[in-house]
Amino acid sequence: MSTERTSAAAPNASSAAQPDRDPARLRSQRWFAPDSLRGFGHRSRLKGMGVDDVDFRDRPVVAILNTWSDLNTCHSHFRNRADEVRRGILQAGGFPVEVPVMSLGEMMMKPTTMLYRNLLAMEVEEVLRCHPIDAAVLMGGCDKTVPAMLMGAISADIPSIFLPAGPMLKARWRDVTLGSGSDVWKYWDERNAGNLCDGDWNAIENCIARSAGTCMTMGTASTMACVAEAIGFTLPGAACTPAVLAEHSRLAVRTGRRAVDLAWEDLRPAQLVTAESLDNAIRTDMTIGGSTNAIVHLLAIAGRAGVPLTLDRFDELSQSTPMLGDLRPSGRFLMEDFYNAGGLAALLSQLGDLLNLDCPTVSGQTLGQQIEGAEVIDAEVIRPRDNPVSPAGGTCVLRGNLAPEGCVIKSVAADPGLMQHRGPAIVFDDYAQMKKRIDDPDLPVTADSVLILRSAGALGAPGMPEWGMLPIPKKLLQQGVRDMVRISDARMSGTSYGTCVLHVSPESFSGGPLALVEDGDEIEINIPERTIHWHVDQAEAARRRECWVQPAPKFSRGYGQMYSAHVQGAHQGCDFDFLAGRSPDQEPDIF
Ligand code: FES
Repeated sequence: MSTERTSAAAPNASSAAQPDRDPARLRSQRWFAPDSLRGFGHRSRLKGMGVDDVDFRDRPVVAILNTWSDLNTCHSHFRNRADEVRRGILQAGGFPVEVPVMSLGEMMMKPTTMLYRNLLAMEVEEVLRCHPIDAAVLMGGCDKTVPAMLMGAISADIPSIFLPAGPMLKARWRDVTLGSGSDVWKYWDERNAGNLCDGDWNAIENCIARSAGTCMTMGTASTMACVAEAIGFTLPGAACTPAVLAEHSRLAVRTGRRAVDLAWEDLRPAQLVTAESLDNAIRTDMTIGGSTNAIVHLLAIAGRAGVPLTLDRFDELSQSTPMLGDLRPSGRFLMEDFYNAGGLAALLSQLGDLLNLDCPTVSGQTLGQQIEGAEVIDAEVIRPRDNPVSPAGGTCVLRGNLAPEGCVIKSVAADPGLMQHRGPAIVFDDYAQMKKRIDDPDLPVTADSVLILRSAGALGAPGMPEWGMLPIPKKLLQQGVRDMVRISDARMSGTSYGTCVLHVSPESFSGGPLALVEDGDEIEINIPERTIHWHVDQAEAARRRECWVQPAPKFSRGYGQMYSAHVQGAHQGCDFDFLAGRSPDQEPDIF
């Protein structure tokens, strides 16, 4: 049974406290109200599209920022959804305008969407600022579109509501339930181990992406949708509603309606993104066993909001947040199960006092009001506090001489037998070398080896791709090995798993210690102690430092050159140094 969870809890214009609806308060009036040459131009060109005075005069202009693209497979339903958002805006007395923005489709975009997250964030910020927009509906879902759109809206500080694309339906192959991403890696390993024929592999390819929507495991897309809901950027229930359900269409209509109210209420991102709501977001990430990518994105989001946040806060909250969502890749169930079990509100209601319940949300309710009374329908999927999947959160932050600025590991998706491990390094200088060497029968690798990949960070790769789940060497797969310690300055897909130490900072390209490690060096990780140690003689480390040569820049022109000059480290969220903070005061002149 599935109950609609977004309508009852979400107030509409009639039930919320009535704001002052004086059109003179609307930002768009600067464009459309003046009896001036410019005002004439703005109005007459709208009329050239068949728009009449009654359509836009004295109404909030609500932009639908749509990341639809034929090359973003996760957003293929967004053309229809934009029309449904438009319907909601019209119902509530707004003037809808659809504005396409850059789409970041995880599967097709190379070298990685992360290279372009900040570009979309800049586009969203500038599109909102330069147009007559009173409020915005941000339509995103596939991994980086979520943080990018939130970051841009925070910097522009124009009332905004987020509509997540929603996850795909569960996939089935024979009698097996397949989860996107996670099962791809799993069956690829089985294929490499010689356990899966071409016909079965092809059958999996045909069925694993079952519908429109984002990956249906608790990967980065679903993690960031939950994070967005926890911060207060969505209507209740939005994060888990599967993309192709009729309920998702109704959610889109309600989101459009609510956006009009936001314009009148002037409820801005600055009121939503606070130290308290970011703590809620971090606890949400931990209790769902969310993607490690959420750490990078939340650091960037905090930077835009001017809220101090460091890696240590993630570890601190992780230790006091039980993991209650039994969700793949670290658990058993998929997003459709999570939705049917009660969704995020039901899960957060279990956390209760661990959350800052007074934080406002775009619904007009506080977070506490939003989750109050939310029912857990399946306690296997959403565990109670006294029977958690894990007593502490899913992600740990490690520090040590190999990662002075920190690194992260999704410990709940790792082999418990590798939580304390010491072994000799096998070092790959870059991804191309790793691909070339990893299955070399002469590679001196054993199950105890520590695989190290460098030149995989924001500058070195570039773009910090999701290379962190290094493949297990074929000869070890054939021996039955399915996990080993892997360390890199890369990220890892939220759908990935394994004992993968990620986001090593500073990255090797910038001369971080990872750049100096050689084959055979002993590396030790101790997850309970939160340490990562490179056993090396200090004099030897100094000698290697003397010999190290800074690699050449990856770009000589264009966006890439700007990216290289300004991107910050993983421990700072990989945002551009010049984009920190808000700039609502940079309103354009209209002469
Ligand atoms: Fe878009 Fe996974 S590929 S969410």
